[in-house]
Formats: sequence, structure tokens, C-alpha cells
Amino acid sequence: MLEQLLYAVRRIPQLALRPVARRWFKRIGRNVKFDPLDHFNYREIEIGDNVFIGPGAWFAGRKITIGSNVMFGPRVMIQAGRHDYSATDGLMNRQPEQPSELVAGVTIGDDVWIAANVTLIDGARVGDGSVVAAGAVVTGDIPPNSIAAGIPARVIRARMPVAEWKEYRRSVLRKHQTS
Ligand SMILES: CC(C)(COP(=O)(O)OP(=O)(O)OC[C@H]1O[C@@H](n2cnc3c(N)ncnc32)[C@H](O)[C@@H]1OP(=O)(O)O)[C@@H](O)C(=O)NCCC(=O)NCCS
Repeated sequence: MLEQLLYAVRRIPQLALRPVARRWFKRIGRNVKFDPLDHFNYREIEIGDNVFIGPGAWFAGRKITIGSNVMFGPRVMIQAGRHDYSATDGLMNRQPEQPSELVAGVTIGDDVWIAANVTLIDGARVGDGSVVAAGAVVTGDIPPNSIAAGIPARVIRARMPVAEWKEYRRSVLRKHQTS
């Protein structure tokens, strides 16, 4: 029964989700596809055009910026924010959320693939044209044109040689730049 319900919910056409999406995102571009059961909160997410977000996404926190032509595999988690844990006069579950001025945010460039089960925490930045391998935890900067993997995510190699990347950026990326 639950399975049938979930199946039905997942078949809601993307067009019907558009009005809801406008309330979930601060800015949402054209042709952004996501699963109706994905979770987006705080209405602080800015997202470009032609973005695919897989099922099980959980994007929470302030200052989340996603470029255009980005794809997310299933179960990607973005947590742009955290709890403070410095007070020693009270229990952990009484500690406040970090104030938004101290949140660095999470930024993902254009033409990026974030694979399955990746977690991006506050301060994560993924440059244009990069790939983050399945299961990675991104805690800092992943430069453009990189393949990154692991916990914490580290660059394992360049996606393409520098000369090719320069040409790719000049021709392919620029051609598809949308906003
Ligand atoms: C990122 C990815 C595409 C890289 O694939 P690739 O270019 O063929 O890389 P390789 O398999 O040659 O691996 C290169 C090295 O990285 C390591 N590696 C690959 N994927 C890794 C991962 N997810 N986490 C940690 N290390 C990884 C390999 O073990 C290998 O290490 P070695 O050189 O010490 O042997 C692939 O690993 C991946 O994560 N795929 C995601 C699949 C997915 O999420 N699909 C959902 C659909 S959106």
C-alpha cells in the first residue's frame, strides 16, 4: 500500500511540481527536475537551468547555490549549516543553530556531476566541470575540472588535461552557459 502510494507520488509530472518548487527555492531556473519526495528547506536555495536532482535528496541550510547543467545522483545530502557545540553549561540538544551570518554556504558550479550518496557540508565548493564520486563527503574546495572522491573528498585526478579543459571551457561550457 505504502509502496503504491510512493509510486503514485513519484509519477507526479514535473510541470505540476513547478508551483510548489517556486515556494521551495529562492530562485529556480528552467528545466529543473526533482523527485516529489526530495526535501528542500529554508527557501534559500538558488538553482540554475537544466538540473537533475535524484531521489532521496535532502538539501537543508542557508546559502545553497547550484549552477546550471548539474546532475545529482540519488540520496545526495547538502547541509549548509550546523549546530554550535561550544557551550559547556547545557546539553548538546539545547545548543542553538549557528547564526546565518556565520554560515559559509555550499556552492556548486556549472556542468557538475554529484554522484550517489554524496554529502556536502557547510563550506563545500565544487568548481565547474567537476565530478564528485559516490559516497564522498565534501568539506571544502574542489577546483574546476576535477574528479574528487573519499572522506573528506580529495581530488584524485583532473577530469581532462589542462589544454583540453581550457578549450572545453571556452567552447562547450560557454555555449551552454545560461545564467
Ligand atoms: C567518479 C567515478 C565515475 C569515477 O570513475 P572512474 O573515472 O572510472 O574511476 P576509476 O574507477 O578508474 O577509479 C579511480 C580511482 O578512484 C577510486 N574511486 C573510484 N570511485 C571512488 C569512490 N566513489 N570513492 C572512493 N574512491 C573511488 C578507485 O578505487 C581508483 O583508485 P586507485 O587508482 O587507487 O585504484 C565513479 O567512481 C563513481 O563514483 N561513480 C558514481 C556512480 C553513481 O553514483 N551513479 C549514480 C548515477 S547518477
